[in-house]
Amino acid sequence: MFGTLKAFAFIAATLSTSVVLGAATASDGGVIITLPPRSTDVGIKKVPDAAHPFIAPGPNDQRGPCPALNTLANHGYIPRNGVASFEEILAGTREGFNMDRDLAGFLAGFSMMARGNAFLNKLSIGSVSPLIPVVPGAIDGPAPPGGIAKHDRFEGDVSMTRQDFNIGDDVHFQISLFDEFLSAIEEFGDDNALHGPKSIVNMKVMQEFKFQRFQESQAADKTVSFHSSRIASSYNEAAFILTFFANGTDGLLSKQALTSIFQNQTFAPNWFRRSSPGTFDFIVDTAAEVLAPHPIQPGANVNGVYVLDPPDNSQFLRQCNAAYSDFVLNNLPHTLNNVTQPTFKKNIQTLLSIVATPFGCPELLPAGPVGQ
Ligand code: HEM
Ligand SMILES: *[C@@H]1O[C@H](CO)[C@@H](O)[C@H](O)[C@H]1NC(C)=O
Ligand SMILES: *[C@@H]1O[C@H](CO)[C@@H](O)[C@H](O)[C@H]1NC(C)=O
Ligand SMILES: *[C@@H]1O[C@H](CO)[C@@H](O)[C@H](O)[C@H]1NC(C)=O
Repeated sequence: MFGTLKAFAFIAATLSTSVVLGAATASDGGVIITLPPRSTDVGIKKVPDAAHPFIAPGPNDQRGPCPALNTLANHGYIPRNGVASFEEILAGTREGFNMDRDLAGFLAGFSMMARGNAFLNKLSIGSVSPLIPVVPGAIDGPAPPGGIAKHDRFEGDVSMTRQDFNIGDDVHFQISLFDEFLSAIEEFGDDNALHGPKSIVNMKVMQEFKFQRFQESQAADKTVSFHSSRIASSYNEAAFILTFFANGTDGLLSKQALTSIFQNQTFAPNWFRRSSPGTFDFIVDTAAEVLAPHPIQPGANVNGVYVLDPPDNSQFLRQCNAAYSDFVLNNLPHTLNNVTQPTFKKNIQTLLSIVATPFGCPELLPAGPVGQ
């Protein structure tokens, strides 16, 4: 079942490295990916600082489905052209949003393997980029990496402000969907002396808005796909809004600050990042609270009818995590196991370990389809 692989010259097993522009370029031409130590610069901070002004993206700059990465790029917290290394994404998400290293490591690490070039350590936060060539040996098909905007593997259905791939624009901000978010705030939001009546996004707003989005997709998208990993991503993203977009001073998320990030892709004036790192466990707990009042079982629409995924009673799942297993087994191409270039191989090993770490699961090997 594994496709035939081209043979590659195996370059020296020991990798001699030279440091070019802060990135370690190996003798085989790859760029070695490393997990940086946890930063100690994790307190509250006004964002942006003077060194990171908003500059609107140019026509060749990549932007995509993630409102946070788009905003970070517009402020130069990650490269403004929207093509970033693993380390740059970790540094930028910490500096701008105080995202914990292991949570950012999972997101950036999975995306680098699924949608980037893990040999050259380059990921587009938008679509295919001329700066990111096809991976060595075209082990994931002949096309260059799709970037995080490419549908499936990570970009998926039932987003909050992007439409399902099958029925609309799944990459760019959709005002009609955002208006539903604003309506939920009008209905369920908290009053606030500074920001006004019904101006604050709370847990109830998110619980009801998220469920409404699921019901809409289920009704409108005949092939809506909502398997374990997508449920996890999509509810974690709801938790990101509550925990990372809120003003770090008081933990409150105003309609204005929300709109600034989603619509204008810039930080609200006088906004502070959260006062402690947002960790994986904290996000997963918040996401569970968002899901709790309206639980959804993993499944997909078949001819417009929602069919539940068969129960998986494997030993692994009883002991570990269905989302982790879905991410790695179904959404990373199996050919990542058979990489031969030393730097590519080393980077895949590094990233697979980083992806497993926050779940606390024994490491699984990629088993997903190629070229999807
Ligand atoms: C660390 C690297 C990150 C990667 C690789 C990443 C990737 C993505 C991707 C692929 C999507 C689209 C998923 C979909 O189909 O809805 C997405 C959505 C989203 N991301 Fe990120 N993201 C990252 C960091 C962050 C951070 C730091 C935040 C918050 C501070 C964040 C907040 C969001 C939100 C709220 C959405 C949902 C947008 C919507 O549903 O309309 N992301 N991200
Ligand atoms: C978004 O940008 C527009 C144009 O600069 C501005 O008028 C508007 O107030 C901004 N919205 C928010 C919520 O900051
Ligand atoms: C954040 O909170 C501080 C202190 O309460 C306040 O001065 C500032 O205006 C708030 N910023 C936003 C974007 O709400
Ligand atoms: C590819 O990797 C898998 C998993 O490690 C292994 O079982 C398989 O034998 C390898 N195939 C080739 C052609 O090397």
